[in-house]
Amino acid sequence: MTEKTYLRVKGGSPLCGTYNVHGAKNAVLPMLAASVMTEDEVTVTDCPYISDVDDMTEVLRALGVAVSRRGRDVTVSGKPTLTEIPPHLACAMRSSVFMLGALLAETGEVRLFTPGGCRIGARPLDIHFDGFRRLGACVEYGEDYVLCRAEKLTGADVILKYPSVGATENLIMAAVKAEGRTRLIGAAREPEIVSLVRLLVKMGADIAGEGTPVITVNGVRELEGAVCAPVADRIVTGTVMAAVAVAGGRVELNGADASCLGAVISPFLSSHTYLVEHGGVLVFESDRVLAATDVVTGPYPLFPTDMQAPFMACQCYASGMSSMRETVFEDRFAHVAELRKMGADIALAGNTAFVDGSRGMKGAVMHAADLRGGAGLLVAALGAEGESFIDGLRYLDRGYENIERIMSNLGGKVVRESGSLPE
Ligand code: UD1
Repeated sequence: MTEKTYLRVKGGSPLCGTYNVHGAKNAVLPMLAASVMTEDEVTVTDCPYISDVDDMTEVLRALGVAVSRRGRDVTVSGKPTLTEIPPHLACAMRSSVFMLGALLAETGEVRLFTPGGCRIGARPLDIHFDGFRRLGACVEYGEDYVLCRAEKLTGADVILKYPSVGATENLIMAAVKAEGRTRLIGAAREPEIVSLVRLLVKMGADIAGEGTPVITVNGVRELEGAVCAPVADRIVTGTVMAAVAVAGGRVELNGADASCLGAVISPFLSSHTYLVEHGGVLVFESDRVLAATDVVTGPYPLFPTDMQAPFMACQCYASGMSSMRETVFEDRFAHVAELRKMGADIALAGNTAFVDGSRGMKGAVMHAADLRGGAGLLVAALGAEGESFIDGLRYLDRGYENIERIMSNLGGKVVRESGSLPE
């Protein structure tokens, strides 16, 4: 039998205490990418200790810039000496695509090997490349790479056919030093994009309209050093809320940003959960009596696809029939088969999962196949009767900072172990 590292989870213990929410992974990664757009020091504060941030710092170092971490502050300085994202890093990390816009703007050339990361749908990059072309870049496809080149980038109106988060971020970065005005029409509105823009504006960029569907970027010649904090992680906040919803308890979410949590919070509110903001701290309470809900994922400000699996775990405990329609990524239901091992009654029809929560959930041996799916399994296990085992922790470690400690600090019975998994 092969040795594995897994979480051993004993369900049924209420979660109580305080959780300090850290900066959002999805804000920190593009902010770190943007830091190559000046030789000066750029510091992104409140960076979580997660493997995606470690991988991003490795990508930056491989490009020839200096990176140092002091606690939660990551500082980047110097000029990139390479324009090629090394294949082993590009393949390990989907977020290396953020280097496209930053490097194209800074060096006029970038080669990216086919990116890897979580397998959640095909994840094409056509919106990124169409936008670069509109700004004057030439995009060539090799067998296992894409090469983007531009003697000069020129501002233009770019219509995004879908509000892609990554494409919006890449195009903002590409436009920052382009000559003239760029308008991104149909841009994504995620709060993490607003964090990226805040950093770029502190660095000297001229950008308006972030958080709305039309973002205007007036090109500037030079950027300079800056210090900037990311928005708090709304997906980690939502995952802790989901865990409290199924396990019961009361948790203070210190540092959570209620202003961008609307759609994350709303499906919880039809249940017997209780949420108040007290002195700037969100307090979430659950007596484990959950009501059925119909949820549809969508671009911000709709319910985030990254909360789909953690919230589906709650639907497994809600009385009656719930539904979860996934409109952002196809093929984002790998967790369904694992939840069924716990006894979940889930029927899949196209992009919708119908979840009958009237059955009880029992501990099981499960495999996490992607980051948020893994979080969903942990949430489900925290509410279940008996013991569960979850492997595939390398996915969870991409976005959750020591998830067993987060949950055990709140009273959950979660430990990380290595050995053979039970049959
Ligand atoms: C980002 C987030 C990810 C989140 C997702 C949607 C980061 C590091 N990751 O990913 O956690 O789940 O937003 O909120 O911020 N698409 C195209 N062509 C493109 C680009 C995207 O068709 O060129 C499609 C994708 O296949 C997908 C949808 O658009 O179906 C959304 O993708 P996008 O918003 O780009 O997600 P990411 O930026 O990759």
